[in-house]
Amino acid sequence: MIDVRPSILAADPLNLEKEIENVKNCGIEWLHFDVMDAHFVPNLSFGPSLCGAIKKRFPGLKLDVHLMMEYPGKYIDAFAENGADCITVHCECKENVNDLIAMIQRKDILAGLSIKPGTDVSVLYPCMDACDLILIMTVEPGFGGQKFMEDMMEKVRKLRQAGYGKALSVDGGINLDTAVTAVEAGCDTLVMGTAVFRAKDPSDVVQRCRKMEKYEG
Ligand code: DX5
Ligand code: ZN
Repeated sequence: MIDVRPSILAADPLNLEKEIENVKNCGIEWLHFDVMDAHFVPNLSFGPSLCGAIKKRFPGLKLDVHLMMEYPGKYIDAFAENGADCITVHCECKENVNDLIAMIQRKDILAGLSIKPGTDVSVLYPCMDACDLILIMTVEPGFGGQKFMEDMMEKVRKLRQAGYGKALSVDGGINLDTAVTAVEAGCDTLVMGTAVFRAKDPSDVVQRCRKMEKYEG
């Protein structure tokens, strides 16, 4: 089954509890939590305290924390202590990603690696064995509601051809149409913000994506 992870970046911040309750009732297991530091990306989002509040209110939901930060290492402890179940860092950050993966996994948390659209997929090959998830950005990170960059699917195909067999996720512009393209290319995990939180029937969107045929290698 495809793993759909709604991104709260697209949720109504003034009704966040109700919005999360709605998607939780769609049967999702993970919530995607986009953290932006206004340096690595030109936007500022939310921090560990909101992560902790969500985990306290929704202990059954797993939190997929996406650190779009120049120095993510400084925040791994804080997010680990506030309920993160997976922490993803960017290969383009200013720290050593192998050290970051080890730091995250020492906390018994899954470690993800992500690359921006302009970064070649080959930077991920040396770390494929060490990390637990790879997140391919299908928009320039920083804002939700952008257009899906279909040429990023080549990165997904190359990772599968290189023998990467663990969680492979995409983030940005994923909806019922682009989800088909992403899953056909080899993704098994979908970060979806606008397409879920702004949907008339979020449950229908989630269920239809979850039932898409998974890549079988
Ligand atoms: C970009 C953000 C978005 C968000 C999902 O930095 O990470 O990709 O999660 O955006 P949409 O609304 O396109 O699903
Ligand atoms: Zn994200």
